[in-house]
Amino acid sequence: MKKMLLLWYNSAIALSIFERGPFVKHKVILDCDPGHDDAIAILFAARHPEIDLLAITTVAGNQTVEKTARNALKVCSLANIRSVPIAKGMHRPLVRPARHAANIHGESGLDGPTLPEPDIELAPQHGVDLLIELLLKSDGDITLVATGPLTNVAMAMRREPAIIPKIKAISLMGGAANLGNVTPAAEFNIWVDPEAAAIVLACGRPITMSPLEVTHQARATEEVLTRLRAAQRPIATFVCELLAFYGKTYSANFGFSAPPVHDPCAVAAVIDPTLVLTRTIRVEIETTGEWTAGRTVCDVYGKLGKEPNVHVGYALEVERFWDMLIATLVSY
Ligand code: RIB
Ligand code: CA
Repeated sequence: MKKMLLLWYNSAIALSIFERGPFVKHKVILDCDPGHDDAIAILFAARHPEIDLLAITTVAGNQTVEKTARNALKVCSLANIRSVPIAKGMHRPLVRPARHAANIHGESGLDGPTLPEPDIELAPQHGVDLLIELLLKSDGDITLVATGPLTNVAMAMRREPAIIPKIKAISLMGGAANLGNVTPAAEFNIWVDPEAAAIVLACGRPITMSPLEVTHQARATEEVLTRLRAAQRPIATFVCELLAFYGKTYSANFGFSAPPVHDPCAVAAVIDPTLVLTRTIRVEIETTGEWTAGRTVCDVYGKLGKEPNVHVGYALEVERFWDMLIATLVSY
């Protein structure tokens, strides 16, 4: 009986989500470092009816860029996402050595479920060149969603500054107004490549940042897992297997009872900006501090006297977020 109710509930939500009325599709390029939560962000962006996913570019972050690229191929192959070019990007940060997060995502970067070998191949271009190519030929209507270190995005801006006015907006997962997660001061995506983050935050285009204060509200609780399992759909079940591994590493490293799915928040913020509550403030990136490198310095009280440059998230509409994400995942 409970399973039937859950199926009915998810179906009702799916209908409500997929029939939000007339909408304009958002053209999106997703730059990511899969990574368990990046994988869920890929599935979310590729399937939601209000997103036209133009390309996936991968970057060194959670694992090497070879592994993040391979993981993107595997996830897209499994989910039959075949019309989205996937390009491998930068293999290390602009200045610093590459650093990874095997303690969270495992040696493969997507430990847990056994994924079949991908039957799709990488695009021939470097990820940075694909970003530049698509942005230059666009009408300035592409939103960049970045869920890994910002190395590719920064490199593209430096290599071809003409892309900057062509970027409609940037929605990124990264940073923290308060505690970091890889050091007390810094969140992983920014910590890996602070110089890249500083370049991107200074680009002058509209930026929405979903920091840990937002993404730590997106916990994949038992209720979420039950709703996903109840659908008895292959991709929803795969996501549960991802979350089983990811939940163990988050419990071991942070004592969390349920893992936060960070990256889908940056996708949700594009689909429905009311899902992430933001304040528009100045954000600077610490690039030199011995203990604070990678910190997103969020000038909440305007003490720096500098123009605001980022819409910084401080809260998530948790129930509506999960309704939208679950409805999308169970629709595969
Ligand atoms: O700090 C969390 C972020 O770092 C997420 O994007 C996760 O995938 C890792 O890239
Ligand atoms: Ca990520």
